Amino acid sequence: MTATTRLASTPTSTGFLIAVEGIDGAGKSTQIRALADVLRALGHEVVVSREPTYGQYGKQLRDSAASGRLTASEEHRLLLLDRREHVDTLIRPALERGAVVVLDRYYFSSMAYQGAAGLDPETIRRDNEAFAPKPDLLVIFDLPVEEGLKRIAARGERPNAFEATATLERCRTSFLAMLDLPFAQRVDATQDADQVRGALVAVVLRALGYRRFVGLGAIA
Ligand code: TYD
Repeated sequence: MTATTRLASTPTSTGFLIAVEGIDGAGKSTQIRALADVLRALGHEVVVSREPTYGQYGKQLRDSAASGRLTASEEHRLLLLDRREHVDTLIRPALERGAVVVLDRYYFSSMAYQGAAGLDPETIRRDNEAFAPKPDLLVIFDLPVEEGLKRIAARGERPNAFEATATLERCRTSFLAMLDLPFAQRVDATQDADQVRGALVAVVLRALGYRRFVGLGAIA
């Protein structure tokens, strides 16, 4: 640890799992990198990862997102295989070492996206929670679909098969419904980048047990 002390109640022997979710174009990836820097400066081991992964199953999913060839059930099946591998090889070992694991998408994306494609979100949740650890914190980056699509276009990218407006509207509704979960927090992703980063850092530090934080520093 650095000069910062942690609350006695903060778990130290087991890690802390954070899932960051939201529709495409919400800016999750950039902000997760900034969050990781803050947590490392506070002395935490931080492992950042994303789903779909770049493993064999994740690759098939990304290829299908570009071509739109798989059915929702096939996507669900591949996502489960990809996630199982991710949990076994990266997520669980890191948590057992005591790391803070930050995931850029997790099984809540399956509930939202494959749910929007016609599968039952509760079945998706059950299939995933059979092997995937529930996060300690779920952060939902929220912004209007139109704004997300504008940002994707500004990056010079073309929306993939998951990113049609009607689909994303259903995904956004589904993510917002998840805010009823006791471990979920919303971040307003329409704010400018610095404000979004501040909001993300604030919800994460609070969840980790820091009581006060000033700028990028934190005081227990
Ligand atoms: P994305 O975060 O856009 O990855 P990248 O920026 O590397 O392309 O994720 C790719 C797409 O995968 C995204 O549009 C949502 C979709 N997806 C699902 O449909 N279900 C899932 O369970 C996950 C994790 C992602």
